[in-house]
Amino acid sequence: MNAREEIDRLTAELKEYQDKYYKEGVSLVSDSEYDRLSDRLQALEREYPEYMHPDSPTLRVGSDLTNDFPEVRHTIPVLSLDKAYSNQAVLDFFSKSIDKEGGALSFAAEEKIDGISMVLYYEGGLLVRAVTRGNGEVGNDVTPNIMTIPTVPLRLSEPVDIAVRGEVFIRREDFLRLNAEEPDESKRAANPRNLAAGAVRRQKSSEARMIPMDIFCYEGFWSDRDKTPKDHIAILSTLRRLGFQINPHLAFFAETEEEAGRKLAAAGLEGTAYAFSGIDDFIKAKTEERSSLGYEIDGLVFKINELDVRDRFGYTEHHPRWAIAYKFESPQAEAVLKGITVQVGRTGRITPVAEITPTKLGGSTIRRATLHNQEYINELELAIGDTVSISKRGDVIPAVDSVIEKNDEGNTTYKLPSKCPCCGSSIIQVGGLQYCPDYSCPDQAKGRISYFASSDQMDIEGLGPKTVAVLYDAGLIRSIEDIYTSDLSRAVGLAGLGEKSVKALIDGVEESRKRPFAVVLSSLGIAEIGKKGAESLISGGFDDMDKLLTAVDKGDVEAFTAIPGIGEVTAENIIRAFRSPQLRTTIAILREKGLRLESSSEERPDDIPQAFAGQVWCVTGSFEHFNPRSKAMEEVERRGGRTVSSVTSKTTHLLAGRGGGSKRATAERLGVRIVTEDEFMKMLGMEEREVAGGGQLTFL
Ligand code: IVH
Repeated sequence: MNAREEIDRLTAELKEYQDKYYKEGVSLVSDSEYDRLSDRLQALEREYPEYMHPDSPTLRVGSDLTNDFPEVRHTIPVLSLDKAYSNQAVLDFFSKSIDKEGGALSFAAEEKIDGISMVLYYEGGLLVRAVTRGNGEVGNDVTPNIMTIPTVPLRLSEPVDIAVRGEVFIRREDFLRLNAEEPDESKRAANPRNLAAGAVRRQKSSEARMIPMDIFCYEGFWSDRDKTPKDHIAILSTLRRLGFQINPHLAFFAETEEEAGRKLAAAGLEGTAYAFSGIDDFIKAKTEERSSLGYEIDGLVFKINELDVRDRFGYTEHHPRWAIAYKFESPQAEAVLKGITVQVGRTGRITPVAEITPTKLGGSTIRRATLHNQEYINELELAIGDTVSISKRGDVIPAVDSVIEKNDEGNTTYKLPSKCPCCGSSIIQVGGLQYCPDYSCPDQAKGRISYFASSDQMDIEGLGPKTVAVLYDAGLIRSIEDIYTSDLSRAVGLAGLGEKSVKALIDGVEESRKRPFAVVLSSLGIAEIGKKGAESLISGGFDDMDKLLTAVDKGDVEAFTAIPGIGEVTAENIIRAFRSPQLRTTIAILREKGLRLESSSEERPDDIPQAFAGQVWCVTGSFEHFNPRSKAMEEVERRGGRTVSSVTSKTTHLLAGRGGGSKRATAERLGVRIVTEDEFMKMLGMEEREVAGGGQLTFL
């Protein structure tokens, strides 16, 4: 038998053993025999990688190579869900959806698994990538670790191109067992979710394999529109047929219980049928069942079943309009308020923060919780030493909710200091909020510098809040402009800053000089000018700082209000902000140091009308007149449009050439306008003239 035949044979044999074991719980061979065959196959695959099967059973075993989890762009929008906190809110979602559609609808209700969101990409039925949610547009490729999950199919029963969303989770009993086996308490995960998060990102997939992860899949996105089932329950049953594990605890809502039952049966799915009026019963039953499930859920997800309706409802920037997550009441805990510290933000805003006795809540230990402002403290009549109830609102930021027991030391309601704790300036009141009015207050300055350098803004590597504090205190960076004027090599030797990190910092600063004008503008920290604001200013004609400052100096409110989305109050605030002498100094120095204070030629050239301003274009396929297709993107950008590499809910146009199947399907699904090459030419105001030797493009 030659190597290829042996690989084929071992592959088939081991696959059969795996299938029997994971699907039926039957071991056909001893562990040692299995390992022997698997080792042999791995050795052969290493020697003859060309013969390795793309769904080889050895991929399940993992390897000792170090994973680096490269960032990859999602080709589907990976959004999260809008939330509901009461039965009524779910009913409202049902009735509003039905009103909006003007016709009967049905809804699937699923458990909201408290795990790690994952997107599995299959091409021709083979798993090619498993990607974390990331920011919804770009996630980390964690494929080797995900391949070790037995319930993730490596090859589907049909050769389809599909993206599947699912939740990776760890069963309670596995979590408890692994924690019991871990002697080092500090290494024990706080909850199954954290354990899963760690497993997904294990450096070695051979180690990830030792953590028993599982997955439930709940959404499928076919590249080929024609193959997409027509409703959600058909998607679920198709996913199951393809080989995915779907959660068996499905519920289904329709006008009547009978109708719900009929639809479930037609899709060949088991589930509990409910009439809309059964919502209270359903939520009550699930709330009770929750603690006896083998895995953790943090809510229930209600989804419109009909896909054509989903398409019509579409998406907001963050979530689909066709689904809602009912969240179980967030866990509450008791703690004692030990003290209140006062933080000064980059805008001077003063925020009181509760320092509490360390308290376990929802799987983590909380030591601090926000108190918002003086008014909030007054409403609670909160005093140091009080026993308070804390919760995680929306399960993220802990907050003090109420006072359970007053302190017996006689402390009265806490009052914010009258002076800024950082610079000693007198605190001022602006509409119920407290501010330090001194622009040069060190905490404000540190906040401004950190914001400017943050990854969402100028993205200066190595200049996080901690380093900013060190450099500020050492007198090296006291303002935004100091980042570019200061001799940062003098930072070597300061706390935590070795030669290497300072070199990285200097490189990061250098690199940041290239950021486009829109980014520089939004990084200045002017309240009214975030990312979107900067872009509207630029596409509205303020494409260089001089134009902007001229309008500011003239107090030309109308020049700003002429831009869609900018009202009078915003215009006045912008003018006031840019009249500040400190900001003007910053701008002057940034200019001197070569930062971009005007849209560069690629961003916005010549006198072409900005007909695509505010539009977001994705380009796919190949073209007759735009070759390479980046030429088409350039044309969009020259007209003020933005180009992106994948179709998301934010995309307004898809320019589709020959080919380009999956993006077209996504665009159709999201209701994104699809533009042909001909139409695009017309939009550009270009016409094809027949000239000898081929077509030539000319502006009309
Ligand atoms: S549907 C566009 N279904 O909850 C589809 N999500 O808060 C949106 N999740 O990011 C997701 N179980 O990671 C959906 N049955 C389920 C889910 C579920 C858990 C997670 C998912 C999502 C998050 C939204």
